[in-house]
Amino acid sequence: MKLPQADFRHRRDRLAEKMGPNSIAIIATREEMYRNRDADYKFRADSSFFYLTGFAEPEAVAVIETFEDDDYSYSLFCRERNREMEIWNGYRAGIDGAIEDYDADEAYAIDLFDEEIIEKLLNKERLYYRIGHNAAFDARASQWIKQADAEHRHESAPAQLVQLDRIVDEMRLVKSPQELELMQIAANISAEAHTRAMQMVRPGMMEYALEAELNYIFGQNGCVPSYNSIVGGGANACILHYVENNKPLKDGDLVLIDAACEYEFYASDITRTFPVNGKFSAEQKALYEVVLASQYAAIDAVRIGNSYREPHEVAVKILTEGLVNLGLLKGDVNELIQTEAYRQFYMHGTGHWLGMDVHDVGSYKKGEDWRQYEEGMVVTVEPGLYIAPDDETVDEKWRGIGIRIEDDVVATSKGPRVLTANVVKDIADIEHLMAQAKA
Ligand code: GLY
Ligand code: MN
Ligand code: MN
Repeated sequence: MKLPQADFRHRRDRLAEKMGPNSIAIIATREEMYRNRDADYKFRADSSFFYLTGFAEPEAVAVIETFEDDDYSYSLFCRERNREMEIWNGYRAGIDGAIEDYDADEAYAIDLFDEEIIEKLLNKERLYYRIGHNAAFDARASQWIKQADAEHRHESAPAQLVQLDRIVDEMRLVKSPQELELMQIAANISAEAHTRAMQMVRPGMMEYALEAELNYIFGQNGCVPSYNSIVGGGANACILHYVENNKPLKDGDLVLIDAACEYEFYASDITRTFPVNGKFSAEQKALYEVVLASQYAAIDAVRIGNSYREPHEVAVKILTEGLVNLGLLKGDVNELIQTEAYRQFYMHGTGHWLGMDVHDVGSYKKGEDWRQYEEGMVVTVEPGLYIAPDDETVDEKWRGIGIRIEDDVVATSKGPRVLTANVVKDIADIEHLMAQAKA
């Protein structure tokens, strides 16, 4: 499934309206990234550029100009068609394709950008520009402005420079039903990958071999991971951004997998933690139940009108109570929360916006205050507990256990909707799935 061109046009309509008359917006895609000698990383278009254009090729800039009469025009600067380059490097839409297939009112060769943009800047009141994404492009932008002023005696460059990200980030934060459909597909594929990992894991297997089982499902569905996969056995789960994934998985340990794919530019983000041998030990079970209870309660707090922070506060309370009940923390729960004593075992937030980027755009606060959930916002809910292997303040039996459970949740008028419900997380369900896979 792909979004129709009409959806991208609708986004440009909305942006043009927000810009007001006599303005111009310039938005470039990201640059290709060098990996090592003659090898680049696979290109992935800039999220906000793609959001407004649906155009996934490198070397492209979109320009939106608004006029006095509520009308606007959309120009796409892109690579020209070139038989030889296309034989080496693949298909290009070219100038005709930009107009016919991507709905541009005007299209130009990207090489002409510095020349053509001067004319477009003249006599506009405001320039909307994404400041600070690319130093070289920023330097070119100041050059255009200077040149527009210098060369045209009776005309001038825009007097106001506005951060375009502020507008586009807010648009991206609230997802349309069509975007949620894409996110649901990404979530389903990722859930299938986690299910396969639970089925395929065996003691002695390498972490990267288990990662390969996830990649198999992503690849079979034409997807790539939306971030570097974390596959951490035993105490490796206590390293929050463990991505080496190069140790053997041991009988008796848990394995934490934080991995998910993106589908048509929309990300998912899932974490599951399960026993390598298919059976939780008593200590693993006790800690897991605390994390799971906190996660269910935090998901339930993703409700329209609630503060963004509410799920975190709910999770912290349940985690702290659990730590006290199990004897890992001592003292009064409220005081332990106030002094942030729980941070010894829970040192990250409970989630983040999710969308085209895994840590998606959109502000978390309005002024001083946390903002409230609105229909169509998507957030992850990912509490955890991490007992460091060398933490001598706790009984030895707890050390080296790391657990996180993460789902993707949409705020809707009918309450929280979990996109990632296709992969189990209750202990009995995990053990049952794993036992079946061995039978
Ligand atoms: N996978 C990154 C995160 O959970 O935020
Ligand atoms: Mn996350
Ligand atoms: Mn994650």
